[in-house]
Parts: sequence; C-alpha cells; structure tokens
Amino acid sequence: MLTNTATRYGTLARFFHWSIALLILAAIGLGLIGDNTPRNADTVARLQTIYSAHKTIGITVLLLAVLRIGWAVTQPRPVPLHPERRAETLAAEVVHWALYGAILIMPLSGWVMHASESGFAPIWWPFGQGLPFVPKSDAVAHAAGAVHGLSAWVIYLTVAAHIGGALKHQIIDKDATLARMSHGRDAGDAAPPHGRAAPVFAVGLWIIVLGVALFGAAIPPSDTSTEAPAPTPIATTPTAAPTGGPAWEVQDGDLTFAVTQMGAPVVGNFATWSAAITYDEATGTGAVTVDIDTTTLTLGSVTDNAKGAEFFNVAAYSTATFAADITRTDGAHLASGTLTLAGVTVPVTLPFELAIAGDVATMSGEVVLDRRDFAMGAGYADESTVGFGVTVAVTLTATRAD
Ligand code: HEM
Ligand code: HEM
Repeated sequence: MLTNTATRYGTLARFFHWSIALLILAAIGLGLIGDNTPRNADTVARLQTIYSAHKTIGITVLLLAVLRIGWAVTQPRPVPLHPERRAETLAAEVVHWALYGAILIMPLSGWVMHASESGFAPIWWPFGQGLPFVPKSDAVAHAAGAVHGLSAWVIYLTVAAHIGGALKHQIIDKDATLARMSHGRDAGDAAPPHGRAAPVFAVGLWIIVLGVALFGAAIPPSDTSTEAPAPTPIATTPTAAPTGGPAWEVQDGDLTFAVTQMGAPVVGNFATWSAAITYDEATGTGAVTVDIDTTTLTLGSVTDNAKGAEFFNVAAYSTATFAADITRTDGAHLASGTLTLAGVTVPVTLPFELAIAGDVATMSGEVVLDRRDFAMGAGYADESTVGFGVTVAVTLTATRAD
C-alpha cells in the first residue's frame, strides 16, 4: 500500500525515508572526507569530485525532502508504539522533527554557500550554478557556511540518536519499530494521539541553531583572512612618485584578475594597492609604479590556495610591483616595464585607455599574463584545473596633484 495508516508506514513514506537516509549519510561522509583532505595540487582534482558529488547528492536530498514533506502532510503519522514511555516518545519525536528540519536546512544552506562563492566544484547538473536573489558575496557565503557547519553538528547528533534509538528498539526492546519502517509492518494501538510538544521543541532547536550560526557569522572575525577588507586602493604610505611630468593622485580604482579554474572563470581582486603616476598630456609620456599588497587578495572559495606557497606565496612575497614608462602612439597608451610577483621579475606591457576631463583622469587597461612565467602552480602542469592565462584588469580615476 502506498499510503500510511495510523499503525503502518506506506510504501511511499518508506521509500522517502530510506532514500533520503542513504543520501544524507553519503553527503555527511563526503562532507567529512572533503573537510579532512589537505588542499594542494595532488588533491585538487579529487576534492573537486568529492565536493561535486556532495553537492549533487545534497540537492537530490532537497528535492526528495520537498516531495516527502508534501506527501507527509497528506498522510496520517503512525502512532508511537510505547506511548506510556512519555519521555522516550517525546525524545524520539523531537528527533524526527529535527531531522525534517535538517533535510531542508542542510541542503539549502549548502546551496546558498555554493551560489554566493565563485568557482571550484560545480553541482553536476545543467541548470546553472547560481541562485536568483543570492549575490556573489563573501559575507553571504560566510553566513551560509556558518549555518551549514553548525547544522552539521545537529545532524551528527540527531542521526546518531535516531539510529541508536532504532537499534535499541530492535535489540533491547525487540519490538516492531524497525520492521514498521523497513517492511511496512502494521504495529501499534491506533488510539494514542501524538503530543504537540515535539514539533515545538524541534522548531525551537532550529531557531537557536540558526540564530547562533548567523549571529556568530555577523561578528567580524578577529582574523581578517576570511573577510575581504573594504577596497582601499590608496595605501597608507604612498609609493614615491616617479619623476617627470605632473603627478596624478589615485582616488579610486579596482585591480582584478581572472583565471579559468575547472573550466569556469573565477575573478579575484586585490583590496589594497597604491599607484604613483606622472603623466604629461602634452607629450603623452609619464611613468607609473604600482605596489600591490598581495596579502589582500581574494579569489572566491580558493583564496587560501591562491595565497599559498604554490601561487602568490604571500607569506614570502607580500608585495608585487609594476614599474613602467607610459607612452602614447596615435592616441593609444602603453605602460611598458616590469612586474615583480612572487619574487620573479617579468617584462609586461599594459595597453590602456585614458580619458582626461579637466583635472580628472580615468583609465582602464587589461593584460593577459601567463602564470608559468612567474613559476606559479608548478604542480598544475596542464590547464585542466587552473588555466595558464591570467587576465589582469585595472580601472582607476586619478586627479591632478597641485
Ligand atoms: C543533505 C544535505 C547535506 C548534508 C548532510 C551536508 C553535510 C556537510 C558536512 C557534514 C560537511 C563537512 C563539515 C563542514 O565542513 O562543516 C559539509 C561541507 C560542505 N558542504 Fe554540505 N551538506 C549537504 C548539502 C550540501 C549542498 C546541497 C551543498 C552545495 C550545493 C553543500 C556544500 C558544502 C560545502 C561547499 C562544504 C565545505 C564547507 C567548507 O569547507 O567550508 N552541502 N556538508
Ligand atoms: C540507518 C539509519 C536509519 C535507521 C535504522 C532509521 C530507522 C527509523 C525507524 C525505525 C523509524 C520509525 C520510527 C517510528 O515509527 O517511531 C524512523 C523514522 C524516521 N526517520 Fe529514520 N532511520 C535511519 C536514518 C534516518 C535518517 C538519516 C533520517 C534523516 C532524515 C531519518 C529520518 C526519519 C524521520 C523523519 C522519521 C519519522 C517518520 C517519517 O516521518 O518518515 N532516518 N527511522
């Protein structure tokens, strides 16, 4: 029989129970394996498979959970087998309701975290990786990650209590609790109703867990590595202005870089950098020196990898410097010089557009670098995980200094 009665779980309820149980246990296992796998060149491809499988399974749980809940509200819930053991019955039912919450909150928080981050492991499906109304935002990803992480603990404890309870009924009580769920056995006295306290307790538990996770995520971390600082392109100690031509002071700007990771574009940026610029409009010549604080780089979910020894190696090289001469030919500008990054100096020419209105100059430029020139990502010998080309884009406005 497809449907439930007061003393029996129908086929559909049992299908939902066991399919979700299996997938949840798989998602937990993969989440824990992923969490405990070191992140480096040797493991990145494996990690991608682990997390893509984790996310795809999690989304499947969400779909089944919505169908399960839709079905459950139309069905009677089989009565407790030992209503006289009031505390035990209440505990079992609180756990059931808490698990219902978990099969929604775990995948939803995971999905929001995934949609608000850039890159790394995609969900294996053709419907896109973003979510409407979820912006790409470190703060959103951090909050959703906090909910996901704390809810994981609720699920460990409730699943352990739930499985422990099922085993206790099977081994100690030797009653029909497990058989009711596994074989659809009919058992129990149809008379006793369910108490109303259990759903209230479970909802209370989830409100507390969500409150703690979101409140904790809203407190600025003392270690700033997880939060991108507000962009401050002007450093506290400005780079000495190159000589020759009038000086320009940077007011505002963005320094971003884009790489292709696992076939998908990921954009990162440097929050803190300073530029000293001289430029003579009459001759179209000048000079520029840009100092970049590489410790302020962010690159979606792989910021820590990018900062690590294999790539920007920010612990050893916290500053990158671009020093170049500016020339103008037929109205087109070039900044030709050298870029020193991760201890390697390479000639770089940046073509850029410049518009000057009164005392305000606006420039934007883009250049494609090759990470191999800077000995970055030696362990990623081909482009399957991280592309060779890195597109660096800069936009800024500057005012003529007095
Ligand atoms: C049934 C649903 C799910 C369960 C039970 C689950 C469980 C877990 C567990 C136990 C972890 C490891 C613990 C931790 O890192 O805090 C984890 C991590 C993670 N999960 Fe899930 N998850 C589910 C669904 C999803 C979905 C649908 C997504 C994304 C679409 C997702 C994305 C992630 C990510 C990105 C991490 C790594 C977090 C980090 O290292 O910061 N999860 N999950
Ligand atoms: C091997 C693992 C599991 C076993 C042996 C097991 C066993 C059982 C049993 C025997 C029942 C019936 C309890 C009763 O009639 O009072 C039950 C119900 C339930 N189980 Fe599990 N379970 C397992 C895993 C899970 C997991 C991972 C979830 C997470 C969603 C879950 C969620 C539920 C819920 C919500 C109920 C209440 C009945 C319903 O509304 O479908 N179970 N389980």
